[in-house]
Formats: sequence, C-alpha cells, structure tokens
Amino acid sequence: MAYDTIRWKNNRVELIDQRYLPRKTRYAICRTDKDMWGAIKAMKIRGAPAIGIAGAYGAYLGIRNSSKRTFGAFKKELDKSIKYLASSRPTAKNLFWALERMDSVACKNKNKPISDIKNILLEEAHKVLTDDKKICRLIGKNGKTLIKRSSNVLTHCNAGGLATGEYGTALGVIFSAKNKIKMVYADETRPWLQGARLTVWEIMQEKMPVTLICDNMAAALMAKKEIDAVVVGADRIAANGDTANKIGTYNVAVLAHYHKIPFYVAAPVSTFDLSLGSGKSIPIEERSPEEVKMINGVYITPKGALVKNPAFDVTPRKLITAIITERGVIRKPDKKKIGKVLGR
Ligand code: MRU
Repeated sequence: MAYDTIRWKNNRVELIDQRYLPRKTRYAICRTDKDMWGAIKAMKIRGAPAIGIAGAYGAYLGIRNSSKRTFGAFKKELDKSIKYLASSRPTAKNLFWALERMDSVACKNKNKPISDIKNILLEEAHKVLTDDKKICRLIGKNGKTLIKRSSNVLTHCNAGGLATGEYGTALGVIFSAKNKIKMVYADETRPWLQGARLTVWEIMQEKMPVTLICDNMAAALMAKKEIDAVVVGADRIAANGDTANKIGTYNVAVLAHYHKIPFYVAAPVSTFDLSLGSGKSIPIEERSPEEVKMINGVYITPKGALVKNPAFDVTPRKLITAIITERGVIRKPDKKKIGKVLGR
C-alpha cells in the first residue's frame, strides 16, 4: 500500500487526512488527545477499526506528559482522557473497545513506575494497529471463499485500508478474492462520499476494475442481474447479529434480500457489542444538517430546509447471509452462533 492510514512517527501520530482524498495526500498531525478528538470528530480519520486505533494512540497522547507520581492520580488523568476521546463519535464499537483495552493494560501494570506504564501504553497502541493489520488479512482470507467465480460485487461506504490499519474488512474480502471478481461496484455514499472518494481510489490502486454508482442505482443493477454479492463493513454488531453500518446499508440489504443476492458483513470481533441484545439499542450518530445541505461548500437546498442526517442505520440480522470475522464465518447469524465464535 502506498500510504499509511495512521502511523507513529517523530514522537507523534500522523494520519492521512481523508477529507482531502483523492485530490491530495495530506497528513494531519496529532500531538495531544485534543488533536486526536478533533481528527476523529472532523472525519480526518474515519471507519470503525481506524478510529479504534486512533483512540488508542489518543489515550497515550492524553497521559504522556503526566507528572503524576502515584498510580491513582495518573489513572484519574487517563480516565479523563479516555472519557473525552469516547465522546468524539458514538456508534463504532471499536473506539470504545480500544479505549477499554488501554484502560485495562494500565490497570494490569499499576504496580510499575509511571514512566514504565506510559511506555506500556504506547506499546499497546502500536499493538492495536499491528493486530488490526493482521486481522484484516484473516477476514480477507475467510471471506474469499464466499465469493463465486466471475462475480460482480457491490460495496457501500468505505471499509478498506483507509477505514482500518491497512487492507480493510469488506475491501479485504474483495482484494483477497481479486481473481474471482469481474467488477466491483461502489456506492457513492452520500453525504460524505466515502464510496466515490475513498473506495474507488483504493480499488484503483489495487488495479482492480471498479465502477461508481449513485446510491439510488443499486436496485436497477440488481434487477438486471448485474450484482452477484454485496460485501459491507460494520460499526457495531449487537449480540443477535443486527448490524449498524453507514447510512444506506439497510437499503442495500433490503434490495439484496428481494433480489436473492447474498449480503455479507465483514468485521473484526472488536466490532461486536454483546451488551446490546439487538440493533435497537445501538447509538446512532446524528451529524450536522450542513453535510446534507451543501456539496463542495455550496448550498444545494433552499435556506431553512429541514434535514435529517443520521450517519448510520441498522440492518436486521435476518437480511445478513453471513458475518465474516477473523475467527471464521458466521452464517445466518444469531445470538448462539455469535456467542460461540466470541467465546461467550
Ligand atoms: O462515518 P464513517 O466514514 O466513519 O463510517 C464508516 C463505515 O460506516 C464503515 O463501513 C465501517 O466503519 C466499517 S470500516 C471497516
């Protein structure tokens, strides 16, 4: 891959500022947890696993200059930073999972000197990143078997290398099945255009055939039998398999069900939230109306137009053919099968 989604360099975090892609490859610098909070909130970095990695580094940045000498006082600072970072975006479970991981590593090492704990936390953030890279390869390997020869595959939003440490979840499956895929169709994914800007860019870099469609074109293509499978990522998966992903995913799932096309969700185990019985309890981020009212800084609506802008929707488990994880494929997902794979 010719870019790093997020990296540790010169004692700070650098992340590719996805708002400028594909026009410019510009890196944003984060030196503090405040910088990181802003980067996540402003969508400089986005995609569930990627914001998990960003959160882990953010927690380290939050305490690296701590002058506290006791674990109790140090932990208060860490807690404050973690709480703050957790307030950046509400839907992707991976952010909270990564912050919990940082918290738990600090607690496990509470008897060590504070300077050692700081180093351990930085190492843990590196590990969240390197683990994610490996996990995406495994998801790709597991998902590849589901794609039939000579398939046209549709994806929604961006669940590629830019949304993860590298390689991607849904795109990981697509890249792994490269030789079996005739064409990838990418939904443009209004309002942020992650599909048009990021997914098309990533697939072109992999030298795979890709065709962009507007979000309202999938039904017509499916009716003409031009789509053989759908693969998407996920932001949070409830215990029963209901899955939150980018707004518009549910539309695609309903269409795929009607046209009898397999609908696959690719996600790491860290995206599951077993504390939620169903998708009804998944918190859905509501973003600024301006994102819908404007295109490229120009208003496209009359002044005062009412707008709704939920960033995610929930696809009921019954519409999901299988969930592809690093631990294997969960066909016709339900609470029991998910619990078994997750070891609960
Ligand atoms: O608002 P975004 O761009 O962070 O939303 C991203 C998605 O919905 C992705 O499909 C999801 O996070 C999976 S990324 C591997």
